[in-house]
Amino acid sequence: MKIEFIDLKARYIDEKEQLNKIFNEVLESGQLILSDKNTNLEKNLSEYLKKKYCVTLNSGTDALMLSLWALNIKKGDEVITPTVSFIATAAAIDHIGAKPVFVDVNEDLNIDVEKIEEKINDKTKAIVPVHWTGKMCDMEKIKDIAQKYNLKIIEDAAQAIGSELENKKPGYYSDIATFSTHPLKILNGVGDGGFLITNDKEIYEKIYKYRNHGVVTRDNYEFYGVNSRMDALSASIVHYRLDRTKTLIEKRKRNIDLYKSNIKTNNFKFIEHKKNEIESHTMFVSIAEDRDGLQKYLSENDVQSLVYYGTPLHLQNASKKHGYKKGDFPNAEYLCDRVISLPFHQYLEEDEILFVSDLVNKYYK
Ligand SMILES: Cc1ncc(COP(=O)(O)O)c(C=O)c1O
Repeated sequence: MKIEFIDLKARYIDEKEQLNKIFNEVLESGQLILSDKNTNLEKNLSEYLKKKYCVTLNSGTDALMLSLWALNIKKGDEVITPTVSFIATAAAIDHIGAKPVFVDVNEDLNIDVEKIEEKINDKTKAIVPVHWTGKMCDMEKIKDIAQKYNLKIIEDAAQAIGSELENKKPGYYSDIATFSTHPLKILNGVGDGGFLITNDKEIYEKIYKYRNHGVVTRDNYEFYGVNSRMDALSASIVHYRLDRTKTLIEKRKRNIDLYKSNIKTNNFKFIEHKKNEIESHTMFVSIAEDRDGLQKYLSENDVQSLVYYGTPLHLQNASKKHGYKKGDFPNAEYLCDRVISLPFHQYLEEDEILFVSDLVNKYYK
């Protein structure tokens, strides 16, 4: 039995009829970039996430950069963020000229809220929590800290469409929440894409123009902007998939629950799911002893697993210039040595999950 990690081919077969219809409709319309497809998607996303404004963009990375820029974060400023995330979170802060100030993570791989305050000083301007894996951070506490020190919050919700904590979706407590619609995200298009949401009209209008070269009319550019436009095909496909997200999350949850009831070894631990949360299950990360050995064993048995992420951000070469070193964030370093993602996508059958579970049990016996 060969089990692959990525579901994109299976997803195309499942949605083929509808996707081909969208493809034809968009091409026939002759409007390929920033069309009414974007406007419709933006309207639906704002409604879904209960925020006033949404801007579709070229990627989740751009969504972060444009948010930092719109909040006037600049050279010399510091921005607090967890040391476990995709590199884009730290890179966006660095690109804007600010310093990413890392904080260690909890057992659930999210930012350790108790360790935020010790990193705050006069240069701190914002907190960028990351709902990494699709499990939401404790946003209420983060909001309290931000209010106490007058800091902005940009939620990196690249992986968290569909997530909720205490019935609150990403964006509820923050100035801006940013999302990615990269093909491997839970709500995805057929290429790069992203968007952000906010209740602040001024921020919205700034970013709305900035994503398209600062254009006001064809011959009037208010400031130098960038090209960060989502194409109409992606916008249409993301729109079509928005309604399907809930079912998809449920199917992935079913597979995760199957793993939880069939893997029986203390050497392989699941990250706890809390009663008051909905996880988007964009990722399924577990903690395995002898992770590399397990991964090799799975691969020898034709099961693809992935490591997200083997190195925390503070130990990446890219972060060297900010002066971090090994030992700075012990929890993150411990966990990154052990994280492993088993295949769990929505097209896997029960017998496939049981097959992988048995392999994990056998490996540790
Ligand atoms: C936590 C996080 N932030 C930001 C990004 C960047 O999103 P994009 O790939 O759309 O630029 C990703 C993408 O994987 C991510 O996982």
